[in-house]
Amino acid sequence: MKDKLLVYSLSDIDKAVSFLKQVLISKRVLAITGSLGAGKTTLVSHLLKALGVQDPITSPTFSYVNTYNIIDGKKIHHFDLYRIGSVEEFMSSGFDEYLYDPEAIVLIEWPEVITDKLPKGTARIELDYDSIDRRKINLRD
Ligand SMILES: Nc1ncnc2c1ncn2[C@@H]1O[C@H](COP(=O)(O)OP(=O)(O)OP(=O)(O)O)[C@@H](O)[C@H]1O
Ligand SMILES: [Mg+2]
Repeated sequence: MKDKLLVYSLSDIDKAVSFLKQVLISKRVLAITGSLGAGKTTLVSHLLKALGVQDPITSPTFSYVNTYNIIDGKKIHHFDLYRIGSVEEFMSSGFDEYLYDPEAIVLIEWPEVITDKLPKGTARIELDYDSIDRRKINLRD
């Protein structure tokens, strides 16, 4: 199937958020790749708010994962695996339980280290620079 591409700036980031919300209707896990500063955390933060997160949102740069509770006891796990050493560290930290939690939405920045562990049906999102004040988002199919 053809990749889907969308270009957005900070002022219309809502359209990228709507796009991801649409993806989450059929997918539970989003693996979000993109180089340093591509806008992954910014986009995830807006998405978390749109999904009903009311707690302050921070980047899980050092903790690797933040968990938020939304309505009906549903959870969202937000991973940033940039600093994790290996897939073994991921597994031995028990993060696989978060990843395979069937009731939770899982958003993963820097997912490359756990490529082999990603559940079937994970949506692969790619973020990239389009111009100085715009980013492009691609959904791999
Ligand atoms: N669509 C956009 N248009 C313009 N600037 C953006 C856009 N999205 C994010 N930015 C800006 O890009 C910078 C980096 O964003 P962000 O921290 O979200 O990137 P990141 O991909 O999480 O980076 P890292 O991998 O280093 O954590 C921020 O200054 C942010 O405001
Ligand atoms: Mg980030």
